[in-house]
Amino acid sequence: MPEITGKRVLVTGGAGFIGSHLVDRIVKELPASLVVVDNLFLGKEKNLEEARIAFPALKLYRADASDYESMGEILQRERVDVVFNLAVIPLPTSLERPRWTVDVNVAIATAVCELLREGRYETLIHFSSSEAYGSAQYVPMDESHPLLPSTPYAASKAAGDQVVLSYRHTFGLDAAIVRPFNNFGPRQNEGAYAGVIPIVIRRALQREPVIIYGDGEQTRDFVFVRTTADAALRAYQQPETRGHVINLATGQELSINRLVRAILEILGIEVPVIHEAPRLGDVRRHCGSAELARKLIGFEPETAVSDGLAETVSWYRQQLEVK
Ligand SMILES: NC(=O)c1ccc[n+]([C@@H]2O[C@H](COP(=O)([O-])OP(=O)(O)OC[C@H]3O[C@@H](n4cnc5c(N)ncnc54)[C@H](O)[C@@H]3O)[C@@H](O)[C@H]2O)c1
Repeated sequence: MPEITGKRVLVTGGAGFIGSHLVDRIVKELPASLVVVDNLFLGKEKNLEEARIAFPALKLYRADASDYESMGEILQRERVDVVFNLAVIPLPTSLERPRWTVDVNVAIATAVCELLREGRYETLIHFSSSEAYGSAQYVPMDESHPLLPSTPYAASKAAGDQVVLSYRHTFGLDAAIVRPFNNFGPRQNEGAYAGVIPIVIRRALQREPVIIYGDGEQTRDFVFVRTTADAALRAYQQPETRGHVINLATGQELSINRLVRAILEILGIEVPVIHEAPRLGDVRRHCGSAELARKLIGFEPETAVSDGLAETVSWYRQQLEVK
């Protein structure tokens, strides 16, 4: 079984939300070297503070992962063995700049595939998204669920996956794809393009009304971020994952209404909840099957949503009170 210990590892998007938790997780395995490629579009150096303390040799290249030339130079200079590919332009940006989002997200997938095909490193673990499925046609959604992306972001993720699978099929790349459902936890971006959980916490702490888009009965399958980071590592360690797309989900469905109520309860704050028009492209229902992940990598989400939410709320409370 391949181990990360002693390997030279590169994480694209490693200064972002999930990427920085993956970096923390990899550090524990004592890699020979650890390199982050992030252009800091949304990522922050601060997200790597804990990793830098635990692993002072950690390097951050402020570079564009969609740039084949720069990625090639970095891979060569760092003699990288494994790439975890998380760099992405997020969903909300794709509603404002759709063409650019699609171009960049697909180019990131193509660059890492092309460089693997050329033998510049050994193994790719690529991050997809449950958004690639669009709204559930049935639940729980397994990996055979049709890809019906409802935003340009989702389409770019589906396209990136197809690029990876096609390279695997044609050139036999040592590559696997993990497909997380909605992640939550500390360090999720709470500024521009923030996710629902950080926005609700921020507004409540500022005693502002919380806005829910649509009737709030839309559901998501929320996965705690450290669970995802751990699963990505396991996907690398288990060669049977190669050539597969693997859902990372809990199989639990939570409506946005219930999520908001749970956050307000944990905070102990009462603010008005206002419903506004649904957001463009919002999926109605998401609930994933993690059967394949269970089988291939022994995936068992250990953190209950309620525990994960409590940790997340307390983290944001600290962050926002410091500012
Ligand atoms: N957050 C979720 O709920 C979720 C769910 C499913 C899948 N995913 C996937 O997980 C991965 C990580 O998502 P995240 O939530 O941590 O997002 P994030 O925005 O926090 O992290 C993405 C990182 O990529 C960086 N980046 C953007 N464009 C880049 C480029 N061209 N070159 C280098 N770096 C670039 C950003 O600065 C950021 O640090 C993505 O591939 C995303 O599609 C996320």
